[in-house]
Amino acid sequence: MRIGVLCSGGDSPGMNAAIRGAVLRGVEVHGFEMVGFMDGWRGFHEADLVQLDRPAVRGISPLGGVILGTSRVQPFVGGQGDAADMRVIRDRMHGYGLDGFLLVGGNGTQTVAKMLSDAGIRAIGLPKTIDNDLGGTDYTFGFDTAVSIASEAIDRLRTTGESHRRCMVLEVMGRGAGWIALHAGMAGGAQVTLIPERSESIEQICDWVLSVRDRGRSSLVVVAEGFKLEGSEAEVTREGLDGFGRPRLGGVAEMLAPLIERRTGIETRATVLGHVQRGGSPTAFDRVLATRTGIAAADAARAGQWGTMAGLRGDRIEMVSLEEAVGRLKTVPEARYEEARLNFG
Ligand code: F6P
Repeated sequence: MRIGVLCSGGDSPGMNAAIRGAVLRGVEVHGFEMVGFMDGWRGFHEADLVQLDRPAVRGISPLGGVILGTSRVQPFVGGQGDAADMRVIRDRMHGYGLDGFLLVGGNGTQTVAKMLSDAGIRAIGLPKTIDNDLGGTDYTFGFDTAVSIASEAIDRLRTTGESHRRCMVLEVMGRGAGWIALHAGMAGGAQVTLIPERSESIEQICDWVLSVRDRGRSSLVVVAEGFKLEGSEAEVTREGLDGFGRPRLGGVAEMLAPLIERRTGIETRATVLGHVQRGGSPTAFDRVLATRTGIAAADAARAGQWGTMAGLRGDRIEMVSLEEAVGRLKTVPEARYEEARLNFG
C-alpha cells in the first residue's frame, strides 16, 4: 500500500511526532510505502513530495513546526469539491500510485477529509490544532504545549504586574473556542478569563479588576482573540484575510487595556502572545498523544478503516467518524466557563 501524508492549516506542536508515529508503524510494521507532500495541498498539486521512511523521521519528535511544512492552500483547484475537483485529485493520486491519504489538520482539513471520503477517496484524519476545537476527540495535539506557554506567560506577567500595581491583559489564540484561555487562566490563577463563547460587559470586567485592587492585588486578565465585548457585533481583527479567506483576528487585548485603564484608573498594559504559543518544542504530553495518533492512523489504514479520524477518548485512541469530528466546533461548555467565572475578581 502507498500512502500520502499531508499537513494543512496552521502548524501545531506535535505534528512531527504524529508523522514519525505513522511512518514507524506504517513502513516498519505494515510494510507500506509512504510519501509526504510539502506545504499541504501545494505539494500535492505541484508534485513536490518526499519519501517518508525510518531515516526521514529520525529524531523529529521533539522538534517544533513540521518537517513537511503546512499551508492553507485549497485542495480543490476548480471549485468547492465537485465531481470535476474530485477527478483531478483521483488522477493525481493515480499518477503518484497512491492508495490513500493521512491528513493532519484541524477543522478545515478534516472537513476536506470527509468530502474526499464521501466521494470514495480514501482518507484518514489526524486531529491537530492548538485551539482544541475539533469534535470527536477529547484533546488535539498542540493544545497542551500552547497552554503551557500561555501559563508561563501569565506567571511572568504577574510578577511585573504586581511590582507596578498594574492590570495586565494577556491575549492568547482561540478563534471560536476559548480552551487555551480557560486552561491557561486556570493554571495561572488569572482573575478574569474572557472567551469567544461568552460576551462580558466592560462594566463587569472593570468590577472584577477593582475588586482585585481592593484586596490589595493586581489583576491578570486573559482574553482569547475571538472574545467579543458585550454589544460588539464582531471580533477585533487585523488587516487582511488568512489562507481560508477568514479575517485575521488579533488586537482585542489592545482594545480592552485602555478601556480598563480609563474606567478604573489602574494603569493597564496589553500583551499579545501570538505565534509564540504555536512554536517550539512540544510538551511530552503532546508528543505522546501525537505519536499514538500516528500509530492508530497507520493501523486504521491497514485495517481499511478509511473515512475516520484518530480521536482521543479518555486514555484510548479510537477511530471516530469524520462526521462526528467536523459536525460542529467543540466550544467551551457553559458549565466549564461558570466553574471558573465564579472565582473571577
Ligand atoms: O487555528 C489555529 C490558530 O492558531 C488560531 O488560534 C489563530 O486564529 C490562527 O490559527 C492564526 O493563524 P495564522 O496566523 O497562521 O493565520
